[in-house]
Amino acid sequence: MMATTRRAVRRNRDADWNAWPVAEYLAENYRQMHPCDRGVIHHHCAFFRQFAPGSLARTLELGAGPNLYPLMLATGAARRVEALEPGAASRAYLRRQLTYGPEDSWEPFYALARALDPGLPPTLTEALTRVHVVQGDAGDLVDGHYDAASMNFVAESVTEDFGEFTALCAAFARAVRPGGGLVAAFMERMPSYRIGHGPVWPACPVDESALRAVFGPRTADLRISRLAKDRTLPEYGDTGVLLLTARRPGP
Ligand SMILES: C[S@@+](CC[C@H](N)C(=O)[O-])C[C@H]1O[C@@H](n2cnc3c(N)ncnc32)[C@H](O)[C@@H]1O
Repeated sequence: MMATTRRAVRRNRDADWNAWPVAEYLAENYRQMHPCDRGVIHHHCAFFRQFAPGSLARTLELGAGPNLYPLMLATGAARRVEALEPGAASRAYLRRQLTYGPEDSWEPFYALARALDPGLPPTLTEALTRVHVVQGDAGDLVDGHYDAASMNFVAESVTEDFGEFTALCAAFARAVRPGGGLVAAFMERMPSYRIGHGPVWPACPVDESALRAVFGPRTADLRISRLAKDRTLPEYGDTGVLLLTARRPGP
């Protein structure tokens, strides 16, 4: 009889998030604006524009990584944006951007965001004064702590275990107060992936029906849309990007 070997499912704790390859990740994804970034920015700006400038006391960016643009998008509506991130290298990068000023490559992202949301502060440097980097992960989230929460390419990109994906999304949805808004982006159907020639990072391929199954019972006003696969990015094996807005049920 032939022996079959089944590879173990890689869970979130099996990857070393402190060793996230910040420079390669930025080079592959964010040193220039890709069509999918434009799509995400349009979508998320429409979400944040529904709130008057400065009307949200505290918002969350869960698993911020070294990506500055979701953080900037929240700074029109939010007086304080918390970038929660378990990885030391990503936190160090974000802190350098906040302390010494953002790298020039982020300016086109801010120009587009501000054209779409005039409630954003006049400059990116000013916007970033509202951002605070916090060490931690989804397991540290406190129920109802935030007025709104954002998550980009995290729950599906940090585990191969669908149960763990679900738990991470549930913690994200519970992090806002009842009635609080949620905005998120997911890689569609992306399997585990590499950045450059580095190690394989665990991922969980999800589609729209998976997002509906996870967020439907936990949220109200759930809306999901899709961006076509971005062929200007490296081949991550995805089929596009899924965009989500919802709110936590309640007043
Ligand atoms: C694919 S990156 C996405 C980074 C960034 N949000 C973006 O838009 O490019 C996944 C991020 O999730 C973080 N992460 C890993 N496990 C996490 C967890 N359990 N809770 C929150 N974030 C986590 C990683 O450190 C990494 O920064």
